[in-house]
Amino acid sequence: MRGARGVAPVAILLALAACERKRPAEGVAAAAPAAAAPAPGQPLLLGHVASLTGNEATFGDSTEKGIRLAVDERNAGGGVAGHPVAIRTYDDQGKPEEAAIVATRLAVEDRAQVLLGEVASKRSLAMAPIADRYQVPMVTPSSTNPKVTVENDQVHPYVFRVCFIDPFQGGVMARFARQTLHLSRVAVLRDVGNDYSVGLADFFLARFRALGGEVVDDESYKAGDQDFKAQLTAIKAHRPEAIYVPGYYTDVALIARQARELGMAQPLLGGDGWDSAKLFEISRGALEGSYFSDHYSAEDPSPAIQGFVSRYRTRFGAVPDSMAAMGYDAARIAMDAMARARDLTGPAIRDALAATRGFAGITGTISIDAHHDAVKPAVVLQVVNGAGKFVAAVQPD
Ligand code: PHE
Repeated sequence: MRGARGVAPVAILLALAACERKRPAEGVAAAAPAAAAPAPGQPLLLGHVASLTGNEATFGDSTEKGIRLAVDERNAGGGVAGHPVAIRTYDDQGKPEEAAIVATRLAVEDRAQVLLGEVASKRSLAMAPIADRYQVPMVTPSSTNPKVTVENDQVHPYVFRVCFIDPFQGGVMARFARQTLHLSRVAVLRDVGNDYSVGLADFFLARFRALGGEVVDDESYKAGDQDFKAQLTAIKAHRPEAIYVPGYYTDVALIARQARELGMAQPLLGGDGWDSAKLFEISRGALEGSYFSDHYSAEDPSPAIQGFVSRYRTRFGAVPDSMAAMGYDAARIAMDAMARARDLTGPAIRDALAATRGFAGITGTISIDAHHDAVKPAVVLQVVNGAGKFVAAVQPD
C-alpha cells in the first residue's frame, strides 16, 4: 500500500514535519500522545516507512517482504492479543524529509501502534523525534548509526533497533583486515552526505589504527556521483593494500568498476550497505574477492535460518538478503512487545520493547540494552561468483 492522499493533509503534515526538524532531541515532556488502544477485534497497525523507489529501492522492498512474512505468520496463528495485525507502508523515495512526513502521517492520521523503519540511518534520524513526540514506538530494523537511538547523550525514549551499531561493525572489519588478512596499509573512501558512511568510516579507521595499521588516504564522494576517478587516482598513488568503502550498493558498485578500469586490483572492504543483489549486477564482477560485514548469512546452516530462507523463497521467489531478515525480526519484536504490553497504548508498548531480552531472532538472539540497541554478532562475507559467501561470524566485544 503506497500513500497517495489529498493535498490538504500533506500540507499540514509538511508543516508538522518542519517543526520536528527544528526541535530534534526534545524529550517526551512536550509530546502529544497519538494512538489510543484499538477496540477489541480491530487491527493493530504497523506503519512502515521505506525506500521503495530511488537508489536504495532494494532496502525498502526487501524489508517490506520480511515484514509481510512475519505478519502473515502471526495472523495465521491468531494475531496479537485478539487483534489481527495490519501493515501500512509509505514510500519515502529515499529522502529524509519524506521519511519525516510519512512517519508523521502514520502517527497522527493512521494512528499506527508501532513505526517500522527506516533502513538508512539518515532517514531513521529524521523519524526519531517524531516517534518521541507522538509517543509511537519506532523499531528500525537495520539503521546502525549510534545517533539513531542516542543523541547528545540522551536516549530517544521511543526509538529502538534490532541490529548492532557501527562502532561494533566498523571494528569487526578493522579486526578482520588487520588480524585475518594481515593488512597494514588501507585507504578509506566515504560518502560525506551520509551519516552512516561517515560514522562507519571513522569507527573503522580508529580501530584499524589502534591495531597498529596505517590509514594512507581518506577520500570522499557524494551519493549519486557517477565519476570517482579523481579520488581513486589519489588513492592509487598511496598504494594501499585494500580500500574501505562504507557506502550503499549503487555507488560502491560503480566505484569498484572504476577502480578496476584504473588498473587497481586491491580488494574493497565494506559494511552492510553493500547488501543487495543489485551490488553484484551493477559491479559486473569488479568486486570479486572483496569483503563486507553484514547482519546474517542466508547460507548459515542453522534450522531457524534455513526455515526462514525457504519460507521466504516460497513466497517471494528470492533468497532473503539481510534487510529482509532484519525486517522480519523487527516486525516480530514489535508484535512480541504488543503481546506482552500491559495495554496497547504507545507508552505500554514502549516499556515492553525496552524489556525485550533473549528474543530468538533469525539474525541472532536479540536483547535490547539501555541504549535501545541490540547486542548481537556480525558476519563477514566475501564476494565469490557474484554472491556473498560466509567467511566468519564475529561475536560482540
Ligand atoms: N546500516 C545501514 C544504515 O544505517 C543501512 C543498511 C542496513 C543497509 C542493512 C543495508 C543493509 O544506514
